[in-house]
Amino acid sequence: MSDAAILARLGALLPPARLRTDADTLASHGRDWTRLYQPDPLAVAFPESVAEVQALVAIANDTACPLVPSGGRTGLSGGAVAKSRELVLSFERMNRILGFDAVDRSVTAEPGVILETLQDYARERGLQYPVDFAARGSAQLGGTIATNAGGIKVIRWGMTRDWVSGLKVVTGRGELLDLNRGLVKNNTGYDLRQLFIGSEGTLGLIVEATVRLAEAPQAPAVMVLGLPDLEAIMSAFERLRAALRLTAFECFSAQALSYVTAHGQPRPFETETPWYVLAEYDAAEERDTEAAMAAFETLAEDGIVLDGVLSQSDSQWRALWRLREDITESIAHRLPYKNDVSVRVARVPEFLRAMDELFAREYPDFEVIWFGHVGDGNLHISVLQPPEMARADFVAACEQVSEHLFATLAALGGSISAEHGVGLVKKPYLSYSRDPAEISYLRAIRAAFDPNGILNPGKLFDPA
Ligand code: MLT
Ligand code: ZN
Repeated sequence: MSDAAILARLGALLPPARLRTDADTLASHGRDWTRLYQPDPLAVAFPESVAEVQALVAIANDTACPLVPSGGRTGLSGGAVAKSRELVLSFERMNRILGFDAVDRSVTAEPGVILETLQDYARERGLQYPVDFAARGSAQLGGTIATNAGGIKVIRWGMTRDWVSGLKVVTGRGELLDLNRGLVKNNTGYDLRQLFIGSEGTLGLIVEATVRLAEAPQAPAVMVLGLPDLEAIMSAFERLRAALRLTAFECFSAQALSYVTAHGQPRPFETETPWYVLAEYDAAEERDTEAAMAAFETLAEDGIVLDGVLSQSDSQWRALWRLREDITESIAHRLPYKNDVSVRVARVPEFLRAMDELFAREYPDFEVIWFGHVGDGNLHISVLQPPEMARADFVAACEQVSEHLFATLAALGGSISAEHGVGLVKKPYLSYSRDPAEISYLRAIRAAFDPNGILNPGKLFDPA
């Protein structure tokens, strides 16, 4: 069907203010933070109800117009990119919190609720929504569920998957499914809710979610430590995990820190070290702070830590977190090519050594920025584009090295995408993490929920 005919069908459903085709909206809503693709959507729709979402799915099926679900567009794998005349379906206008249940400790909300709004809502009720990451001010609940977002608190609280107790979804066929209904226990066969979590918009559109809340944080404090080498990272992790109740354990390289300080953050201490870790721990009681001091001192005596600082106030806690959280923003102008990989925590040292060698051999001229959630085996590897190099040459070189990287990961039993998802960027490499039999089941599941292939086509994997 022609673009004009599709737009006429859509125009009969939505008023002009909620069906946009102006250049600015197409450009802003046709991309995520990946910056590797040129956006080219047909239009952007802003539904306000489940019925409108179902009507849009019906039009998409009738007209063979593909849909790209769109949240805060903070993704880093191209999962929300519309570059082939798709209709972007933005959940911005479905952004209400629908209810709180104090007994269940759960919140029911529309998909467009901003993550930080949900976190504030939980805090005001003496609880927390513990999924957390730097893009909290833009990411939307529906997107975090569709990508099974991870972030900085996974060692204590797990991934988004652990917090979703109910989901309403509109499938690619247009039916509305009400999955799990907030139940804690529900052993009635396959848990379809879990299929939709992390499905990257390929099985259905999340139109409502119920999430559980956790007890409030126990007065968290952080320490930032300077370390002499890679080996020290896991030694520090083991020691600190034994001594403290950790909620985060993050690492970053000296180069990563140099970008953050150039971006305006003060150094944590004068001593320059090749590696840094940030550990967050419960510090509600005096003995927690004493245990932290004692652990720090023995790490220093044993040469695992060369220098460090422990937060003494909320504002210092916040400032120290910025050393880690601001990395992405501080390197954004260098258009990094990102890898987001994981191995089992026990294999992190082995993986780091192999990567060190690989990057020294394959990327001698590129600046590689290392940081990540090392406490859960997840590392972010961002290769910065040399200013004089053409974008296409740079991306091609990175893709070549990715093959080596992923082969090493596969040998270690790791994953090519720990938390950012597959989207467009990692699609060519899926077979490094999933075997052919698994992928054929994934295809069959997708075909069952979306037989006409209208939901986020081209993402995750292609039809056989
Ligand atoms: C992070 O951990 O800061 C995010 O996953 C973003 C990134 O990798 O740039
Ligand atoms: Zn991350």
